[in-house]
Amino acid sequence: TLAGAMTLLWFFLLLAASGILAMNTPHPRNSTLYHLSKQLLQKYHKEVRPVHDWTEATTVYLDVFVHAVLDVDAQNQKLKTSVWYREVWDDEFLSWNSSMFDDIREISLPLSAIWAPDIIINEFVDIERLPDLPYVYVNSSGTIKNSKSIQVVSACSLETYAFPFDVQNCSLTFNSILHTVEDVDLDFLRSREDIKHDKKAFLNDSEWELLSVSSTYNLLRNSAGDFAQIQFHVVIRRRPLVYVVSLLIPSVFLMLVDLGSFYLPPTCRARIVFKTSVLVGYTVFRVNMSDMPRSATSTPLIGVFFTVCMAFLVLSLSKSILLLKFLHDEQCRGQEWPPLCLRGDTDADGPRRDPTAQLAGVTESPVCREHQDQSGTLKEVLFQLQSISNYFQTQDQVDQQEIGWRVLLERFDQLLFQGYLVVLGFYTITLCSLWVLWSGS
Ligand SMILES: *[C@@H]1O[C@H](CO)[C@@H](O)[C@H](O)[C@H]1NC(C)=O
Ligand SMILES: *[C@@H]1O[C@H](CO)[C@@H](O)[C@H](O)[C@H]1NC(C)=O
Ligand SMILES: *[C@@H]1O[C@H](CO)[C@@H](O)[C@H](O)[C@H]1NC(C)=O
Ligand SMILES: *[C@@H]1O[C@H](CO)[C@@H](O)[C@H](O)[C@H]1NC(C)=O
Ligand SMILES: *[C@@H]1O[C@H](CO)[C@@H](O)[C@H](O)[C@H]1NC(C)=O
Repeated sequence: TLAGAMTLLWFFLLLAASGILAMNTPHPRNSTLYHLSKQLLQKYHKEVRPVHDWTEATTVYLDVFVHAVLDVDAQNQKLKTSVWYREVWDDEFLSWNSSMFDDIREISLPLSAIWAPDIIINEFVDIERLPDLPYVYVNSSGTIKNSKSIQVVSACSLETYAFPFDVQNCSLTFNSILHTVEDVDLDFLRSREDIKHDKKAFLNDSEWELLSVSSTYNLLRNSAGDFAQIQFHVVIRRRPLVYVVSLLIPSVFLMLVDLGSFYLPPTCRARIVFKTSVLVGYTVFRVNMSDMPRSATSTPLIGVFFTVCMAFLVLSLSKSILLLKFLHDEQCRGQEWPPLCLRGDTDADGPRRDPTAQLAGVTESPVCREHQDQSGTLKEVLFQLQSISNYFQTQDQVDQQEIGWRVLLERFDQLLFQGYLVVLGFYTITLCSLWVLWSGS
C-alpha cells in the first residue's frame, strides 16, 4: 500500500508540475503573429497568381547589387560574380488591416507557402546559390520583398586582346521563364541612374574594378509570346599594375636586350651565343606568362608582339648562323681570318678588297726581310710574288660571290633591325593608346 501511495503522490506531483508549466508558457496560438499568419495563409492558394482581376499583370520590381567579381575565365568565357538580388511584388491576397492586428505592419512568411515569380538569369551556366533564404517579408498592403545572395557563373563574351588594359562588359538578363508580359511584367526598383553608379556594396580590393551597372528594359518577342526582360550590363575594368610590373616591363627589357644584339657586328661569333641566351630568356618568360588570359577567339596583343619579336630574333639568329658558315668555309680554305669580334667586319673585309696592301705588310715582316737580304734570290722572290698575286686574283673571283652573299646577309640584318624598330615603335604606340582608352573608360 505504501508503494501505491507513493505512485499516487508522484502522479499528483507530476500533474501539478505540468499544470504550472502549462500556465507559465504562453501558448503560441495566443500570439497576434500566429493569428495573422494563420488568417493570411488559411485561404491562400500558392498555385494562383495573386491578382483579383486576371487580366492585370503582376509587376515584379528588380534590383541588383554587384558585390564582388570572383573569377574571370577568358578560356571558358565565364564570369563568376557575387550578386545581391532583390525582387518585390504585390500580392493582392496578402494584405491586412494593421490596426486590427496590434499594428503589425510587416511579417515574414515562408517562401514555400506563397506564390513567387519564376525569374531566372538567362546567362546562367552554373549557379551556386548560397543557402536559400526560406522567408520573405510581407507588409500590410501586400507588398512582398524577397532578397537573395547568389553566386552567378554566367556566360560572357570576354575580350582579351587589350590585356592587361581590358574592360569587360557582361550582361545579366532577368526574365520570367514561363510567364509572358501579360502575366508577369518587370520593372526597376530603384532609378536606373542609382543602379548605374552604386558601387557601395562592391568589394574594392580585387583585381577588377566596377565601372558601372547600366540597365535596360526590353520586350523579347518570340513564337511563345512577348516576354519582359531586364538586362544589367556589368562593366568591369582590370587593375593592370601587377601585370605591368610582372609582365610588361620585363618584356620591354627583353626586347631592348634583343635590340641590343643587333648592335653586335653580324660576323661576330659571340652574337650567336648572345642571341641564343636571349632566346632562352624568351622561352623562360613565355612559360612565366602562363597567367596571361587565353581564349580561343582573341589573343592578347602583347602576346602577339612577343611572338613577332621572337620571330625576329630567330630570323636574325639563323642569319648569323648562315654567315658564320660562310666564314667557316673560307677559314677551311686556309685563310687567316682576324679575331672576328675585335676588328669587326670592316677589318675582316679589308684584306680581301686589297690584297696588295696585305702583301705590303708581308714584305715588312722580319722573315721576309731576311729573304730580301739575300739579294741573289730577288728574282725568285719577284716570281713568287707574281704567283701569289695570281693566286689571289683567282681567289678573288671565288670570293666575290661570297662577299655578295655576305653583303646580302648584312642588308638583311639591317632590314631585320629596322623591322624590329618598327615593331617596337608600334608596340609602344599600341600600349599607350590601349592605356589611354582604358583610363578613359
Ligand atoms: C492570451 O493573451 C492575452 C493577452 O495578450 C491574455 O489576456 C489571455 O489570457 C491569453 N490567453 C491564453 C489562453 O493564454
Ligand atoms: C481598419 O480597422 C479599423 C478598426 O477596426 C477601422 O476603423 C478602419 O477603417 C479599418 N481600415 C481599413 C482600411 O479597412
Ligand atoms: C508596403 O511596402 C510598399 C513598398 O515598399 C510601400 O509602398 C507601402 O506603403 C508599404 N505599406 C505599408 C502599409 O507600409
Ligand atoms: C555593354 O554592352 C551592351 C550591349 O551588349 C551595350 O548596350 C552597353 O552600352 C555596353 N556598355 C558599355 C559601357 O560599353
Ligand atoms: C570602393 O571605392 C569607391 C571609390 O573608389 C568608394 O566609394 C567605395 O566606398 C569603396 N567600397 C568599398 C567596399 O571599399
